Amino acid sequence: MKAVCFDTPGTPEVMKISNCEIPKINDEQVLIEVKYAGVNRPDVIQRQGHYPAPPNHSKILGLEVSGYVYKIGANVEKFKKGDKVAALVNGGGYAQFCSSDEETTFKIPKNISLKEAATIPECFFTVWSNLIMRGKLREKQKVLVHGGTSGIGVSAIQLLKLYKSEIFTTVGTNKKKQFCENLGVQNVFNYKETDFYDEIKRKEKKGLDIVLDYIGGDYINKNINLLKSDGKLISIGFLNGSQANINLMKIMLKRLTITGSTLRIREKNYKAKILSDLRKIVFPNFENGKIKCYIDSVFKLKDVVSSHKYLEKGGHIGKIVLEI
Ligand SMILES: NC(=O)c1ccc[n+]([C@@H]2O[C@H](COP(=O)([O-])OP(=O)(O)OC[C@H]3O[C@@H](n4cnc5c(N)ncnc54)[C@H](OP(=O)(O)O)[C@@H]3O)[C@@H](O)[C@H]2O)c1
Repeated sequence: MKAVCFDTPGTPEVMKISNCEIPKINDEQVLIEVKYAGVNRPDVIQRQGHYPAPPNHSKILGLEVSGYVYKIGANVEKFKKGDKVAALVNGGGYAQFCSSDEETTFKIPKNISLKEAATIPECFFTVWSNLIMRGKLREKQKVLVHGGTSGIGVSAIQLLKLYKSEIFTTVGTNKKKQFCENLGVQNVFNYKETDFYDEIKRKEKKGLDIVLDYIGGDYINKNINLLKSDGKLISIGFLNGSQANINLMKIMLKRLTITGSTLRIREKNYKAKILSDLRKIVFPNFENGKIKCYIDSVFKLKDVVSSHKYLEKGGHIGKIVLEI
């Protein structure tokens, strides 16, 4: 089969399309004939050599796919050959075939196309795990999500709307600001033109309940200062660095929780629990149109290098997809 591989980490050009063995599946897995794979920032970070695949995960890039079940393991009960599915996978998505655990594979919600389905797993599993399971989000809370037009941002915002949250977000252009406002975000700050920290401080005297951050760097202390008593900072990435000088007195006095997680290394049962929640609470909202898959652009597999260059430039709104 054809798959995207690289020998040494580096710039997008290290990625080459090679001929590889079709992955073997165990008794609890399905083999998916991949039609689309989502392109995510973690793929870029892996390609750069900063996020290597965990042991036993495929070294081929790609954390989410959609396509057709091609083969099933002996103990698989929920799927048969030909089923139209999407899956959160342990790498291996940028390829013609990809193995997937039965527990993290799902039939595509009604009204969602194969192309759209490939954009669901990585971001919705991540935001559910962090906002709902770690953050214990409740209705009508005030939540800041940085980078509102990223794959993660758009998914988080739509989830927060289900919980009637008052949403705050940061973006880098006025076009992105307009997009987030159209999505229903009440407070959008172009961080290149206004200081989100001053603006939120002025408006929210008591502070915010939750901050979901993947920027880090100088945002870390601003996030902490913006939280109200018992607030939670949830870190899921560090585009601007993971180190900061923090005054723990503030954590103590405001009883803050600082937490974070990565999805990829979590055990299968944890991911299965997320999928079970998504099926109950989120998938019906894909079916009734309240939650949408926002696709910025689709690249052919042969143009995978361009897809990473495009993502790294950061002008996209929503998700980038590879057509296999
Ligand atoms: N922990 C986990 O399990 C997990 C899982 C998936 C993803 N992630 C992380 O989540 C992050 C987003 O992933 P993605 O694939 O959705 O990324 P993405 O689509 O590439 O988006 C990155 C976004 O960051 C924004 N940005 C850059 N600098 C910013 C700043 N100073 N302030 C506000 N926004 C800024 C960019 O827009 P502008 O340039 O316009 O600001 C862009 O929208 C990545 O760090 C990724 O590693 C973590």
